[in-house]
Amino acid sequence: MLVPLQWEEDKPCLRVLDQRLLPGENRWLVCENSRQVADAIHVMAVRGAPAIGIAAAWGVVLALHEVAGREDWSAALQERLSQLAGARPTAVNLHWAITATQRQIAGCETAAAALAVAGRLAAHIQAADLAANQRIGELGAALLPERARVLTHCNTGALATGGHGTALGVVRTAWSSGRLQSVMATETRPWLQGLRLTSWELAEDGIPVTLIVDSAAAAMMQAGEVDAVIIGADRITRRGDVANKIGSYALALAARAHKIPFYVAAPASTVDVSLESGEDIEIEDREAGEIWRAAGLEHGIAGVRTRNPAFDVTPASLVTAIITENGVSWPASGEGMELLAEPARP
Ligand code: MRU
Repeated sequence: MLVPLQWEEDKPCLRVLDQRLLPGENRWLVCENSRQVADAIHVMAVRGAPAIGIAAAWGVVLALHEVAGREDWSAALQERLSQLAGARPTAVNLHWAITATQRQIAGCETAAAALAVAGRLAAHIQAADLAANQRIGELGAALLPERARVLTHCNTGALATGGHGTALGVVRTAWSSGRLQSVMATETRPWLQGLRLTSWELAEDGIPVTLIVDSAAAAMMQAGEVDAVIIGADRITRRGDVANKIGSYALALAARAHKIPFYVAAPASTVDVSLESGEDIEIEDREAGEIWRAAGLEHGIAGVRTRNPAFDVTPASLVTAIITENGVSWPASGEGMELLAEPARP
């Protein structure tokens, strides 16, 4: 199984598989302090909401190593955690992992004691994410029709999580239980997570995958080639509004127009129980170069402005069901919606 992150206790350090170079090159970045983890998240060497959360949990452990031995370790830790929390704004898993760790170490009187607690918690968060994805896979696969042809967006696979994947976990489970016929993967501009990561992950597993440009998705639905759309999430509100990779909202609109179910698969740690409405989710704006570089124009075209929002919000009204490890929530009927109001326990 592909793993995006490896903790090395002896050094100590977090090894991060640099996803910017995949699938061409397997290069591991070595993060020896929390600032390097924050940078790896910011530049998207590690990406995908659950993987960002796991990296952050190990980032807290590295921060504790840095401050151990200082009189003011608690204040020095806080500075580092603020930097880590600012690495990317939209995926709530980042903040969830940091807050969960802060809560668990709150009673510790020494940095050494906090380090032991934080280390156990980070390992647990990583393992629990894999277990959650396996459960999400089972619950999600059961919703698909026989011989389903599924369309997915961005990358929600092993590379984006503690393993197996969320939306891709549903795909993997459906494939191994004989329920899936094929997957259509959008290329996911401008970063090409679908082209570089999803189609590669699926091909490696021998799952039939067809790559399309983002703008072909609605036409594929119109042609009757898609039975279900399934995506992941970066943040879900209590009423079921879903922030995910830019283009998800357009897919949800097209799916609704063609009466195709639109499923969202995510661990409970992606639900932001403090938010009711998706309007309150901060959407990350990334640099213009990401758009231009895809066309080989490093410096753009003089006089042309750009907008590069990395995420959008799909309103709950367009979401057929949300699958977490706790069960399935149906925003339209209200069934199972209480599952989204429960804070995720690490
Ligand atoms: O910018 P990215 O690649 O971090 O965006 C990733 C997504 O939008 C994923 O769909 C989401 O994080 C879920 S990953 C299981």
